[in-house]
Amino acid sequence: MAAGSTVLPFSRRREPRVEIRPARSDEPVARTLDEAGFGPHVARLLGYPRDSPDGEILVAATGRSRLVGGACCASFGATGWIGALGVLPRMRRRGVGELLTHAAVEWLEARGARTVLLYATEMGRPVYDRSGFVTEAPARAWRGTPPGPPPSGLRRLRPTDRDAIRELDAACTGETRRPVFDMLPALLGLGFERDGRLAGYTLNTPWGAGPAVIAEDEEAGEALLRGLVLEAQPLTLTVPDDNEAGARILSGWGFQPVNTALRMRHGPPVGHDPTRMFGLFNLFWG
Ligand SMILES: CC(C)(COP(=O)(O)OP(=O)(O)OC[C@H]1O[C@@H](n2cnc3c(N)ncnc32)[C@H](O)[C@@H]1OP(=O)(O)O)[C@@H](O)C(=O)NCCC(=O)NCCS
Repeated sequence: MAAGSTVLPFSRRREPRVEIRPARSDEPVARTLDEAGFGPHVARLLGYPRDSPDGEILVAATGRSRLVGGACCASFGATGWIGALGVLPRMRRRGVGELLTHAAVEWLEARGARTVLLYATEMGRPVYDRSGFVTEAPARAWRGTPPGPPPSGLRRLRPTDRDAIRELDAACTGETRRPVFDMLPALLGLGFERDGRLAGYTLNTPWGAGPAVIAEDEEAGEALLRGLVLEAQPLTLTVPDDNEAGARILSGWGFQPVNTALRMRHGPPVGHDPTRMFGLFNLFWG
């Protein structure tokens, strides 16, 4: 998990020098990213890049080793994700965000990424534009409660579902998210079965945010979303705008749009199918 460090010289502006390097285990990264705007839940999300052999947390630190920003990386081999990239408000507009972005791209490319992906906030977009990312499409977070009762055709996931989940996931995302699946101690979620095989799943992870919901088509997607009535309410679900069925189902149930983020990529397009993604932001990070 070692990564080289980069030093940004600010002597011209009489600023402390900022170094980008992997976080040490005793550093208060969660507090820094909370203060950078991600809120206290970020502590739980950091569990994956911290514990996975295919993840890393990079920090921006001043000469006195004070953290001023950070970013998370999740490598899936040919693809990789950047998440939770933030800089403390008092240290913004000095190039630290751009430096973190370059370091994260480098870290992922060194592990084989041809394409680096992320979901950008409005604040992040100009930084990523300048760093060579192109915009793909928006996704919207919806908040609300699905109507019950859970429909038939749904069942709890079983340990034997792992291969089917991985296959369905790869067909929809165009990525091999095996590193995340391998870190899951148990498959917590629901499966939708049709003709004796899995046509969709919901999956909770220990790292919060989600659940991830992948479904072959609208029928499976709607059944799975309805089944989420079994979860604590209200729920936040993030769905690509290109999944018109997903947005229609949630708005029809009275879910309210909360915010949007833009999927951006650095490198060639990844053949994914947003119409089969009914819940993002879990399987690191999109
Ligand atoms: C997005 C974010 C990480 C950017 O961090 P940052 O350190 O301010 O980023 P940079 O300094 O590289 O770039 C920001 C702006 O400062 C400008 N800038 C960079 N160096 C500068 C300098 N030396 N002097 C003056 N301006 C400078 C850049 O041109 C850029 O301007 P623009 O946005 O108008 O194009 C930060 O605003 C943040 O943490 N936001 C909240 C969390 C968030 O939304 N993160 C993105 C998640 S996808």
